[in-house]
Formats: sequence, C-alpha cells, structure tokens
Amino acid sequence: MDIVEFLKTRGSTPWRVLGEPGPGEEEIQEFLAAAVTAPDHGALRPWRFVVVRGDAREALADVLTNALLKRQPDASEATIEKDRDRLRRVPLLIVVAASITEDHPKVPPSEQLVATGLAAQAILLAAQARGYGGVILTGDHAYDPAVKAALGLKAEDQIVGFLYIGTPEGRTRPKKRPDAAKFTRDWTGPVS
Ligand SMILES: Cc1cc2nc3c(=O)[nH]c(=O)nc-3n(C[C@H](O)[C@H](O)[C@H](O)COP(=O)(O)O)c2cc1C
Repeated sequence: MDIVEFLKTRGSTPWRVLGEPGPGEEEIQEFLAAAVTAPDHGALRPWRFVVVRGDAREALADVLTNALLKRQPDASEATIEKDRDRLRRVPLLIVVAASITEDHPKVPPSEQLVATGLAAQAILLAAQARGYGGVILTGDHAYDPAVKAALGLKAEDQIVGFLYIGTPEGRTRPKKRPDAAKFTRDWTGPVS
C-alpha cells in the first residue's frame, strides 16, 4: 500500500480484540529500530523502551495488582481482573518512557516528551505495517512510582504509554476521521 494511504488508514486496535500470535524477536527489533528514527532535538535520545512478553506478563500483572491495591485498597475484583486480562490476552507490551534532561539550554522537557511520543507512534505504525494491531494506553499505572520502579525506570522518568501489540481478531474497518481542514488555515500575514 502507498505509505500515505497507509497513514490515512492508521488506527488503534482495542486490546480486547488483540491476541496471539505476537511479533517475533526480529520484528520487535525492527519496530524499535523504527522508533529510534523519531525526530529528536539535540539528539538527546530521551526514549526508553521496556519490552514485556511471555511469562513476564504475569509477573507484571502481579506488580499492577499490588500497585492498584496500594492506591485503591477497595478496588473491585473487576478492576483488578481487567489489568490481568489485558496482559494475558495481548502477547506483547512495550512500555515507552521519556528520560527527560531537565534544564537543557536548548531543548525543553516538552520537546523531549514529543520526541518520545513520536517514537511510540513509530512502533505502532511499524507494527500495523507488519499486520499487527496495537494501542497506546496510560491510566493511573503510568504515573505510579511503584510501577516505574518495578519496570526498572527512574522515579523521574515519564511513562508516555503502554503499547499493547498483537494480532487483531477479524478485520478492522477504517475509522471515520475528522476533516483536517477544520483544524487548518492558511496564514497570509499578521492576524492583528
Ligand atoms: C499518550 C496516550 C495515552 C492514551 N491512553 C489511553 C487510555 O488510557 N485509555 C484509552 O481508552 N485510550 C487511551 N488513548 C487513546 C487510544 O490510544 C486511541 O488513540 C483511541 O482509542 C482512538 O483510537 P485511534 O487511535 O484509532 O483513533 C491514549 C492515547 C495517547 C496518545
């Protein structure tokens, strides 16, 4: 498919319809190679990737359950099971985090976050191009210091998203997208 057509039909796949098989090692390395081409002011390489697959998913589910119960001791069984179900169902999780250089003379933290977000997008696009589906999710776990520590991230690292990647069940229809013109105008000179 033409690349622009491909980009125009990009879409997330809900985790509930993602399953086996997941990408193999070579494919994962390809996705990560695509990620590190993200535009990156100052070549700071702010992105960090944590790959979670196989049995490690169950171990992460335990981490998430403990973190949830610490934040919310009365969390319902359904809430706990949702995290577990997601990790059992989806074969691959890539956690994308930004390790921000504070007080950089030229590159503010916001730009470093953008670079990391673009890296995350590249992974999702590469996965979709190889026939997989994926979705980026955050939620309270992304901001929980205990989750970051368990993943081997620093307390000050910012989790940009949990990328859940697997094989979509059935065909996904292209989504209706807004008209870009609604958000766009030609600038022809000072407005005021
Ligand atoms: C950084 C980031 C975090 C997100 N976190 C969530 C989330 O926690 N839960 C959710 O339902 N959607 C979340 N989304 C939105 C989905 O990833 C997805 O974009 C949305 O479901 C729309 O689907 P689409 O990408 O096909 O347009 C997040 C998106 C971004 C960029």
